[in-house]
Amino acid sequence: VAAAPAAREGRRERSLDLKILFVGEIVGSSGVFTVKSLLSRLRAELGVELVIADGEGATGGFGIGRAHAIYLHKLGVDVITTGECAYYKKDMVEHLSKARYMLRPCNYPWDNPGRGWLLAGPDHHKVAVVSVLGQAGFGRVHLANPFHVLPGLLERVRRDTRTVIVDYHAATTAEKAALFHFLKGQVSAVIGTHQKIQTADERLLDGTAVITDAGRTGSFDSVGGFDPEIEIRRFMTQIPEPSKPVWSKLELQGVLVEVDQEGKAVYIERVRRECTEVPHDRASDSPAGE
Ligand SMILES: [Fe+2]
Repeated sequence: VAAAPAAREGRRERSLDLKILFVGEIVGSSGVFTVKSLLSRLRAELGVELVIADGEGATGGFGIGRAHAIYLHKLGVDVITTGECAYYKKDMVEHLSKARYMLRPCNYPWDNPGRGWLLAGPDHHKVAVVSVLGQAGFGRVHLANPFHVLPGLLERVRRDTRTVIVDYHAATTAEKAALFHFLKGQVSAVIGTHQKIQTADERLLDGTAVITDAGRTGSFDSVGGFDPEIEIRRFMTQIPEPSKPVWSKLELQGVLVEVDQEGKAVYIERVRRECTEVPHDRASDSPAGE
C-alpha cells in the first residue's frame, strides 16, 4: 500500500510537465486572508511550480492597492492579474509599471502603465502569462477588441515560450467560449475570470485547457464575496451604497493545470479548499460563530 504514493512521486519527479495553480478572483481582506491561510500548503500538496491569481478585487472588492499586491506576492502568488479595475487604486497606477509580477489587461493602450503579459515560472519551463479584458458589460472601460489584439501579441510571446496562459477577464460566457475556440491549439490555457462563480465546464480543447470561470477566493456564502444585505438593499431601493466583502464560509477556488514541455495542456482540474482558520479579531463574526 505504501509503495503506490512513492511510485507516483517518482514518476512526478521524472516528469517534465509543469503544474500551475490559477487562483480565482481574490475578494477583499477575507480573500487575502484565505490565500495566507491555504496557499503555501496547497502549493506543496499539489506540487505546483507557478501560482497565478486574479487579484482584481483584493482591496475592498474593487481593484488592488500596492500593499495588498506586495503582500500577496510575498505569500507565494507569482503573478497577479487584474481586469477592468486595474487602475482603481491610485498607488497601483505607479506600482504596475514597477512590479514585474503585476499584469494589467494587454488590450489597454500599449503605452499605459504596466504590462499586458510577462514571463514567469521555473527556469526549466518558462510560462508567458497574458491578461486580456472582454468588451461586453464594462460601462466605464472600453478597450481594444481581444480577437484583434491577441493574434499579434501571441506571435511575439511564442518567440520566448510555447507555454502560454491567458486570463480572459470578461463579463459574458459567450465571449469566453468564443475565445476558447479562437485560441484552442495555440495556447496552453484560457482561464476565465471576473464572474467570480466557478463553472463546471473545465476541459481540454486540442491541448488548450479552458474554464469559463475559475471562481472566487473569499466568502462563498455571499453575493460575489459581498454582504448580501447590502446587495439586496441596493436592488430594492436603487440607492447607491458600496458593497462590503464579508468573512462567511471562506474558500480558495481556482484551477490546477498541467502543461507538457511542448506547451500543451495535459490536465485541468477545479480546486476548492475551505479555509477553517479564523483570524483572532474576527472570531466573533466567523463562519463558526454563525
Ligand atoms: Fe473584474
